Amino acid sequence: MSHENPVIETIKRRRSIRHFSREPVSEEVINQILESGGWAPSGQNNQPWKFAIIQDKGLKESLAALTHSRAIIQGAPVCIAIFLDHSKSYDRTKDVQAIGASIQNMLLTIHALGLGGVWLGEILKNKDKVGELLETPKELELMAVVAFGHSDRPPERGKRDPIEKKVFLRK
Ligand SMILES: Cc1cc2nc3c(=O)[nH]c(=O)nc-3n(C[C@H](O)[C@H](O)[C@H](O)COP(=O)(O)O)c2cc1C
Repeated sequence: MSHENPVIETIKRRRSIRHFSREPVSEEVINQILESGGWAPSGQNNQPWKFAIIQDKGLKESLAALTHSRAIIQGAPVCIAIFLDHSKSYDRTKDVQAIGASIQNMLLTIHALGLGGVWLGEILKNKDKVGELLETPKELELMAVVAFGHSDRPPERGKRDPIEKKVFLRK
């Protein structure tokens, strides 16, 4: 992988990071991550995402209580909650796909900037409670939380099926 294109290398080397050091994350870095999220493609360029940035310790504690991934949120210096904005929505499937692209852009940027993060979905079972906690406008629906910071240990090895197992037609 050593001489690969830097974008491809970032894609392949990114791993979910669930343990963080206490090193703070600068506002500049947070803004770079958000900017990348905003540069995702979306159907009709409708940009159906909204973000909430959570750094307050008390608020993180309350958020952490809403998922089995509690310790990850407690340990992460920053969490970004990603919402689908129904006032921008035109096709649920396409809008959710665009949100996924936005989340992946942020995860890749987190990795490219030398930090680590993880996409948290288990918390969606409590999406209404998260909405209340964050005083979310009613047109927003929680899609995921990304927890991130500086990693405090080397990443685990990635594991993927050989791609040929996933290709069912080549004609
Ligand atoms: C939609 C989605 C939901 C996820 N939810 C969680 C979660 O709630 N908790 C967690 O620890 N990891 C969660 N993950 C991270 C996956 O476990 C991880 O991406 C997968 O095991 C592959 O590992 P890698 O990201 O290190 O390559 C989620 C990932 C996705 C895409």
